[in-house]
Amino acid sequence: MIFDTHAHYDDDAFDEDREEIIKALIESDVKRIVNVGANLKTSQNSIDLANKYDLFYAAVGVHPDDCDEVDDAGIDALRKMCEEKRVVAIGEIGLDYYWHKDNPDIQKSAFIRQIELAKELSLPIIVHSREAARDTMDILSEHAAGKVGGVIHCFSYSPEIAVEAIKMGFYIGVGGVVTFKNAKKLKETVERIPLEKIVLETDCPYLAPTPFRAKRNSSLYLEYVVDEIALLKGTDAETVKEITYKNALEMYRLSE
Ligand code: NI
Repeated sequence: MIFDTHAHYDDDAFDEDREEIIKALIESDVKRIVNVGANLKTSQNSIDLANKYDLFYAAVGVHPDDCDEVDDAGIDALRKMCEEKRVVAIGEIGLDYYWHKDNPDIQKSAFIRQIELAKELSLPIIVHSREAARDTMDILSEHAAGKVGGVIHCFSYSPEIAVEAIKMGFYIGVGGVVTFKNAKKLKETVERIPLEKIVLETDCPYLAPTPFRAKRNSSLYLEYVVDEIALLKGTDAETVKEITYKNALEMYRLSE
């Protein structure tokens, strides 16, 4: 069984055949998916998907792209959304200095406010962090985010940062990138950290694994990610699926 801990099936890229893909997923080895919000609108979309299909759960949160939404009204809207039964996390939230270099203070404030909301509601967080390793780790530590834990999604930093995040109480999200030939650092990270701290994710429609690189991704392709992790860990695909599934249940506080 496969647990996709991070997907965006409400994305336009699925408008033409969403129903068909979801039908294929229901018949596949993919048993649970968390659809992740990136702003107030896509957070609500995620709840709608989770209310419609048993396969889905929802995460609600505002990504650094839309950090202007995180004012008092934005936080209230998120808090209200979390009353929905199928909301399992706050995310994706974090810092992105790759796409946005000009507003670090606004990004930090939005990140911190959403961490505080997660702590208030005892929900794990899904952290998006790009070219912002030090600030991300400092904020997580200063705001005791390890109390709620969660995942550093689409992990792109050094093995040392992964070890630091795990010590703090976080899982490491691994997806299609691990299959890329040039993903040396991520392969090294996977080798170095325990399988018990890895969760699978697609971030679909983005980041399809080899041999579908640059095409539209879906949870069906997680088989390729599983195979690569199995290779790196010197184990078999079934073990990778079983352990990462258990990790994801624990991370999102779901029962079997
Ligand atoms: Ni995402």
